[in-house]
Amino acid sequence: MAKTLFITGASSGIGAATAKAAASAGWNVGLFARSEDKLNELAKEIGSQALALPGDAMNFDAQKKAIEQLREHTGSIDAAFANAGRGSKAAGVESGDPEDWDGMIDLNIKGALYTAHAVMPDLKKNKGQFLVTGSAAGRRHIKGSIYGATKWFIHGFAGNLAEEMSEWGGRCMVVAPGMVDTPFFDSAKPDKLHAEDVAEAVVYALNAPERATIREVFMMPTN
Ligand SMILES: NC(=O)c1ccc[n+]([C@@H]2O[C@H](COP(=O)([O-])OP(=O)(O)OC[C@H]3O[C@@H](n4cnc5c(N)ncnc54)[C@H](OP(=O)(O)O)[C@@H]3O)[C@@H](O)[C@H]2O)c1
Repeated sequence: MAKTLFITGASSGIGAATAKAAASAGWNVGLFARSEDKLNELAKEIGSQALALPGDAMNFDAQKKAIEQLREHTGSIDAAFANAGRGSKAAGVESGDPEDWDGMIDLNIKGALYTAHAVMPDLKKNKGQFLVTGSAAGRRHIKGSIYGATKWFIHGFAGNLAEEMSEWGGRCMVVAPGMVDTPFFDSAKPDKLHAEDVAEAVVYALNAPERATIREVFMMPTN
């Protein structure tokens, strides 16, 4: 039976590319994000392996409901990719906006925690995998970056969760890309990483044999 992957932030960029790559590799995919029209379009493109699940990742009940819907639809959930995230409007601490930080922290940190908590019973049942999008910005210091600090949290969390999940044979991986050409940025970055490059890394970890835990994939654009 085909395995099922729940993806947050599936409506564009890394999440959408991962949905396509995972479906090509034989996975069913649950597509979670706020933009219902984009999710429906992507689900149509992928076909019967995909289910559009519109919702806000900052809302725990919305994620829980989507995961329940996906489980009912496919019979089980074997993996989740907590990928929804955004940057801050202004760089740095001095010129940053605390209200904007609240929203970013709610999405980048609490949104990923909600995904993990809501899906963990399914993963435990199936000895499944949790994947989460960190960043190169979560591995090194960047002047005043609150966004980077949310990704430092993700890297710490992923390592701690990997220890918790390993007690029952579950696996946790953080994917940490440098700059990727996605709508995350206002202008195109075609000479940087492409969303498909990150998607390939996620699918590599998903398809690794049970004995092998890919704990982290760190990838940078070559230039
Ligand atoms: N691009 C880069 O250079 C880069 C590098 C390292 C890490 N990352 C990380 O990669 C992840 C994906 O970003 P991306 O580059 O693919 O950018 P993107 O194309 O802007 O994708 C962001 C995704 O998150 C979703 N999202 C935003 N707010 C949401 C909310 N409240 N609830 C549910 N979904 C929400 C968006 O969908 P809706 O707007 O439809 O909700 C979209 O699907 C993020 O965690 C980002 O921090 C990006």
